[in-house]
Amino acid sequence: MKTKTVPVIAVDGPSGTGKGTVAARVAQVLNFHLLDSGVLYRLLGIAVLKAGIGLDNGQAVAGLAKGLNISFSSAKLGTVLLDGEDVSLQIRTEEGSNMASRVGAIPEARSALLERQLDFRKPPGLVADGRDMGTVVFRDAVLKIFLTASLEERAQRRYKQLIDKGIDAKMSILLQELSERDARDSERKASPMIPAADAFVLDTTDLAESEVASQVMQLVRNAL
Ligand code: C5P
Repeated sequence: MKTKTVPVIAVDGPSGTGKGTVAARVAQVLNFHLLDSGVLYRLLGIAVLKAGIGLDNGQAVAGLAKGLNISFSSAKLGTVLLDGEDVSLQIRTEEGSNMASRVGAIPEARSALLERQLDFRKPPGLVADGRDMGTVVFRDAVLKIFLTASLEERAQRRYKQLIDKGIDAKMSILLQELSERDARDSERKASPMIPAADAFVLDTTDLAESEVASQVMQLVRNAL
């Protein structure tokens, strides 16, 4: 099968809309590959911190992006290694989220990560989750979904996640950080976060995870 004909389902939207969960679920049901593109931006953010490179040095950040030594442990699901070091927890911290959004605003960094993302497109298919899957990386996706939810609801979900993990959190700080990241992601010049013209936009504010999953699965069945 030619790579081009491998179907892609693009799931985009801001943090806290449940896109990661639903993308993983669809990939599992269809037995498709899964690309969580945010992980690449998170890894690059941590790599930039470790290398001590300034965010104003786009060329150096892009150079780092091209040479990123990433692996996913097959022994433990969800384990991500950067230069052989387990950074799975570090990339999920607020610092990891903020660095990801900062490197994501650098056009050279985005171009450098493009090829890596395209490599995930393998038979029988791919579910790709991110901000620009439907608008830039996989413009020919067979199905494009853009999930939204109110800022308050997304902050509430994040708060609950942290508290459930035993991590101290403050709603006011979460709200501020989320809105800053939203603004950076949607106002940047390079691949801003916007729904593709042909995307199905689904507001998940008042929907349970299971309802989001069933609505998305219906769209998937119609598209394939
Ligand atoms: O999806 P996740 O929350 O893990 O993404 C972290 C950050 O990485 C986002 O806030 C965004 O700035 C950046 N990102 C991006 N493009 C993508 C995926 C993530 O700019 N396709």
